[in-house]
Parts: sequence; C-alpha cells; structure tokens
Amino acid sequence: RPVICVVGARPNYMKMAPIIRAFRAHAPAVPVLLVHTGQHYDVAMNDRLFADLELPRPDVNLGVGSGSHAVQTAEVMKRFEPVIDANGARAVLVVGDVNSTLACALVASKRGVPVVHVESGLRSYDRTMPEEINRVLTDQISDLLYTTERSAHANLVREGIAPQRAVFVGNVMIDSLRANLSKAPAASDLIAASGFGGERLRGGYGVVTLHRPSNVDHPDTLGPIVDALRNISARLPLVFALHPRTRANLERFDMLNRLDAQGFLVLPPQGYLEMLGLMAGATMVLTDSGGIQEETTALGVPCLTIRENTERPITVEQGTNTVVGIDPAALRAAADAVLDGGGKRGRVPEYWDGRAAERIVAHLAAWLRERESMGGV
Ligand code: UD1
Repeated sequence: RPVICVVGARPNYMKMAPIIRAFRAHAPAVPVLLVHTGQHYDVAMNDRLFADLELPRPDVNLGVGSGSHAVQTAEVMKRFEPVIDANGARAVLVVGDVNSTLACALVASKRGVPVVHVESGLRSYDRTMPEEINRVLTDQISDLLYTTERSAHANLVREGIAPQRAVFVGNVMIDSLRANLSKAPAASDLIAASGFGGERLRGGYGVVTLHRPSNVDHPDTLGPIVDALRNISARLPLVFALHPRTRANLERFDMLNRLDAQGFLVLPPQGYLEMLGLMAGATMVLTDSGGIQEETTALGVPCLTIRENTERPITVEQGTNTVVGIDPAALRAAADAVLDGGGKRGRVPEYWDGRAAERIVAHLAAWLRERESMGGV
C-alpha cells in the first residue's frame, strides 16, 4: 500500500517536490502515489510549475476545478475517497492549507488512514481567512504534524494536540528554493524579454503578488491597494505577477487600466524558476502570499506583507518580513523606509537548510514501521 501524497494548488507543489524526491532517495521501499485534486488547472498555475520543480506527473488527477469553497471541498472529498479504496493507503500526506489539504485529510481520517500534515501549527488567528480554517481543522485530525518553526508547537498544544505528535523538521518550501535557485533565470533577462526598458530598472525594481480574497474581492479594498502600488511605482518600478483571481476582479471592477502606469510591468502568473529569479534580484517584494514571506526571508530580500497579520511570525522576528497592513499611506511609508534605509536583511531561520524533506521521510518511514509492527493498520 502506498503513502498517498496530495497536491491541489500552486503553493503545494514546491512543498511536495522535495518530499517526493526524498522518498525516492531515502525510503525507496515506501511506494508513493501522487494525487492532484485539480483545484488549480491553468497551464500557468499548474503544468509549468510541475515542470520547473521536476515533479512527476500525478498518478491520479481528480479534476475538481474551481467552485465555491463548499463545492470545491465536497468534490475533492467525493473523488478522493475511491482513490483510497482502490489503492489502499499506509498514510495520506497533505501539505499547507488549501481546500484540497483539508478535504483529503478529512476523507483519510474518516477511513481510518493516518493523516500526515506538513507545515502544521501556523496560525494567523484570523478566522475570516479560509486557509486558517483549513489549518486548524487539518491539524485537529492529523496523526503526525511536521512544523516549519518552533512557534507552531505552542499553537498546537493550545488547541489540545498531543505534543509528541508534532515534530519540528524545518521548511520544505526552502528545500525547493535551495535546490532550484541556481537554475533561476536572471531577473534582468526576464524583464528585458518583456520589453520593459532596461534603463527604467537602473534603480532596482520591486515584485508584487496579490491574490487573497480579503484583498482582491472587493473594489473598496482592491482599489486603494492598487492606487498605493501605483504611487510606489513612481519611485520604484514594480513587476506585478497577476493571479487569475486578481486579474478577473480588476476587469470586473474596471480597474485593470490603473496598472497602465509607467512604473508597472504586468506579467501573467510566473513559473517557479522565473519567480525565484525575480525575487532574488528585487529591491523588495510586496505580497499577500504566505510562501513568499518565507522565500524572501530565505533570500534575504525585504518583504512588505499586505495583510494585517501573518501565520509565519518567524519571518518577522528573524527574517526580512514586515507586516504592513492594507492602509495605502502605511504601504507607501513602508516602501519609502526600505528605499531610504535598505530594509531588513534578517537571518535564515533554524532548519531552513534544504533538508527538511529528508528529515520528514526518515521520521515518517520509522513511524510507519513502528506503528505497523504494533499491529496498526
Ligand atoms: C488558492 C488557495 C490559497 C493559495 C492560492 C495560490 C484555498 C482556500 N486557497 O487560492 O491558499 O494561496 O491558491 O494561488 O485553497 N483560477 C483559474 N485557474 C486556476 C485556478 C484558479 O483561473 O488554475 C481562478 C478561478 O476563477 C477561481 C479562482 O482563480 O475561481 C480562485 O481559485 P481557487 O483555487 O478557489 O483559490 P485561489 O484564490 O487560487
């Protein structure tokens, strides 16, 4: 019976790639079945990232696509259960906090299959955020909880989770970053290829990503954020990799033209290597992503987080991250502070060393052996 590994959406892929590689290298006797739920399906959101990360083609694609949270979660559950029935499962391994993570964890736990959650215990303490619900619930039904930073353990214990189920292993996302950074194309080439005049970049550039529903689903929120970015772009050119949700909303609110400013280079969602190249060369990154807060910390590039909170406090305490919020004046002031003072440099947190997946696979293989030798199913 295999360990079933689940991916669904873009941020899952960079977490799963090193885990699959580590299974092959360090636990070749453990068969792995890779399931893609199909939550993300665009070529730009999907195939290119698989290729960049050298992820094998999924053994199964559930093809769920987009939908309301209820529909998407329910569809994943309906289609995932037969995969467990057909293949059996020694464990189901899920990563991160997307709808596919919770859906598959829930199916596995109801079928009596051990649930392994990679990137456990992160908390924004903001229950309006869909990912927070996914994190809390997935952790509650997980048997093994691998964590990226030590603060996660206190969060888990506070929620009644037995401390011995949580294991600090470091950050698999940073495994991917370290494995791929040398393959990333130079930002100057990427930008030049987009026809954005090189002379405009002499003073550096920033990178922007934005996709959180709380930021992009309402014109009263998205409008002022875009205006603040436009204002910043007059001082520092901004490369804006536009998520499909954000593009659709900008069109719907008739705001896409606000990105026509001189200082904006608008790009489609980037491949993984392109994104690494862009971030590595940037003066600063402005984002509402979770993973990018970690990647910028690992790269030593100042990050301004366009949110009111973060579930990754180590990026603020030790790394390069500043949680700015969405107030336009605060965003402009924070960007000015980086440009005037150089911004935070920080240090790379403990165990963000490129070997987290190895630690996970070694621990998991031993855990499965012990459990099964004791007669656990
Ligand atoms: C999801 C994750 C989020 C993660 C993000 C990364 C949840 C709750 N959210 O958000 O944590 O940071 O992925 O991108 O799981 N769409 C496409 N093509 C695609 C996928 C989506 O056009 O391949 C569009 C659709 O209009 C869809 C919308 O984007 O309705 C939202 O997609 P969805 O998967 O629901 O959530 P994301 O916003 O991408």
